[in-house]
Amino acid sequence: MPNPEIPKLEEYSLKALDHFFQTIQACFSQEATQAHTPEAIEELRIRWVGRKQGLLKTIGESCLKTAPADAKKAIGQRFNALKEQIEQALETGSGSAPTASPADSIDITLPGTRPGTGAEHPLIRTLHEVVGIFERMGYSVGVGPEVETDYYNFESLNFPPNHPARDTQDTLVVAGQQGKPLRERLLMRTHTSPVQIRTMEQQPPPLRIVIPGKVHRNDAADATHSPIFHQVEGLCVDTNITFSDLKGTLDHAMKELFGSSVKTRFFPSFFPFTEPSADVQISCIFCGGKGCRKCKHSGWIELLGCGMVDPAVFGFVRERQPAYDPKKISGFAFGMGIDRIAMMRYGIGDIGLLYSGDVRFLEQFA
Ligand code: PHE
Repeated sequence: MPNPEIPKLEEYSLKALDHFFQTIQACFSQEATQAHTPEAIEELRIRWVGRKQGLLKTIGESCLKTAPADAKKAIGQRFNALKEQIEQALETGSGSAPTASPADSIDITLPGTRPGTGAEHPLIRTLHEVVGIFERMGYSVGVGPEVETDYYNFESLNFPPNHPARDTQDTLVVAGQQGKPLRERLLMRTHTSPVQIRTMEQQPPPLRIVIPGKVHRNDAADATHSPIFHQVEGLCVDTNITFSDLKGTLDHAMKELFGSSVKTRFFPSFFPFTEPSADVQISCIFCGGKGCRKCKHSGWIELLGCGMVDPAVFGFVRERQPAYDPKKISGFAFGMGIDRIAMMRYGIGDIGLLYSGDVRFLEQFA
């Protein structure tokens, strides 16, 4: 590259200084408009701001050395401003021609950088879909804390202390709680059911509520298990609520979610807080019930737990909200895992993908 015509500084009036620095800047701008590739920009950078022999360094040294003491401040200020402009132009110039003058630095004819569009995470999308189905049936939406007390997660749901049913929950407990009475000890909620109790304590019946949320269990992670997962809980309490209401509600919800040809069936099960309890299966959405690998050749897929609210649960609630009198009201509850529903809907083979934060995975849902 030819040496630029850098003038000599012979006079130290402010006017002469301005002219001197403007000329240098014009030299740089001119060279910068020629530098179109990253290599050329790098070359330009070394030539102008290189540490050992960069032009800026040489210019700075030569004009300060000979300057009279009272001009040094004015020179320094202009020199620093020039240096900053050049460095900034070099930094923002990568990929296009860097220029030091603002008028040249924006080429409005170039296409802009398009910001990536965000999208709902497949889990959250599924959660909203499920909640939406129940909202359309007149349910309202509630939430509760993820760090819960033993009382709400277990005792009030009719899990007595030391009851073996507690072992099925693989609970992660908060450390250093031994000094407290059992019912006040903190743990990571293992299900969204504690919010049933919290809601009933706040509101007298009738009640229709769905509760989406994150839950935690001490499970080893594999393709179908994650120590963190999501549930949607449902609770309906009113006069004359029967098991038929539960069946009709869940059958309708499953048809909304998976299509009107889907069938449901209810199997006896056990939960301490519902009596009777059931597991709900849907006809396999992959083979239509004929039997395939996905449904282990049974034609059915198990999707959620449910049951009629156990009167013992109303007993705990009545301490705060006397209107929950099992002689006058009844109710049903259900809880479903959202991760598995999302995996079925979107054909996701590994639950870990939902928590990996991998943009290549997430982009597919945008
Ligand atoms: N909480 C139960 C679980 O996590 C599911 C459930 C909710 C069952 C409500 C019955 C009623 O396994």
